[in-house]
Amino acid sequence: MNINIAKAQLVKNGFLDLEIDPELDLFAEIQKLKKEKNAVLLAHYYQETDIQDVADYIGDSLGLAQQAKQTTADTIVFAGVHFMAETAKILNPSKKVLLPDLKAGCSLADSAPTNLFKAFKEKHPNHIVVSYINCTADIKALSDIICTSGNAEKIIESIPLDQPILFAPDKNLGAYLSKKTGREMLLWNGACMVHEIFSLEKIVKLKIRHPKAKLIAHPECEEAILNIADYIGSTTQLLKYTQTDQTQEYIVATETGILHQMQINNPTKTFIPAPPENNCACNDCPYMKLNTLEKIYLCMKYELPEILMDENLRLQALKPMERMMDISRAAGLIGG
Ligand code: 13P
Ligand code: SF4
Repeated sequence: MNINIAKAQLVKNGFLDLEIDPELDLFAEIQKLKKEKNAVLLAHYYQETDIQDVADYIGDSLGLAQQAKQTTADTIVFAGVHFMAETAKILNPSKKVLLPDLKAGCSLADSAPTNLFKAFKEKHPNHIVVSYINCTADIKALSDIICTSGNAEKIIESIPLDQPILFAPDKNLGAYLSKKTGREMLLWNGACMVHEIFSLEKIVKLKIRHPKAKLIAHPECEEAILNIADYIGSTTQLLKYTQTDQTQEYIVATETGILHQMQINNPTKTFIPAPPENNCACNDCPYMKLNTLEKIYLCMKYELPEILMDENLRLQALKPMERMMDISRAAGLIGG
């Protein structure tokens, strides 16, 4: 393939839009490319089921970050969204990091534009800045500590009580953490489009129809949903809960991709996706779902699109990421 044509295509579409022989066994081809290129395929739980089935590791943001940091592979293929692939590059810069579709962004990351956030931070110079990992490398570079939904409570608890905290970009996660830890925090007004779409009314009706079902929710959901949830946690924590809890039926208030692993791990249990406001499929993340087996195959074959980053920016973004990893390690949330 002509590299200039490929690069022009990436600018236009964000991915390599090339013809693929429909007879090709994409599963087998991807496995072959993994070996040939010493590549590891990391996938988030919100990926479509085929991608989860061919991945080497499936996880939440914390688990994926740790895998990206410790991999011995030469290439990391990230079946997730842009900020996740960027995080992998920040943590492990000597690896080639590939993202099948550059347009796989995140509404939450988009809700914190760098210039506005910088001005907000400058208005509150005595605050420590804790940013949720769902943000751009620029926002990470402006932060003091990063957190994920899997470690956020421990991160907040590690901060001295007299230290004011500015939390960004997710106001729902921030409000949940404030309530959980008793720490007042200044919140940036951002949110995830998928977790804000759940309908309280429909969930309440669903609970009436399924009285034995437990509602499990991601902390990116709005307060009204979290208030009636039986359990709140990151995607990994939600999955683990369904494996240890004795209930047979769950209403799941997070992106629908996670249901695949819940069902594999609990074949006799029932999982019902929490309904969104209107009759759309808005509990599917449109960014996560941009990745397909075809795009992963092409991206591995041609090693494009690649995530590249300015080294100064990377080093600045690395500092708060390392603080997060250190606190998570000390709290026993990750190994190594
Ligand atoms: P976790 O998988 O870390 O819980 O994050 C959820 C999410 O929204 C990722 O984009
Ligand atoms: Fe971003 Fe929400 Fe999609 Fe996660 S689910 S990538 S937070 S838009």
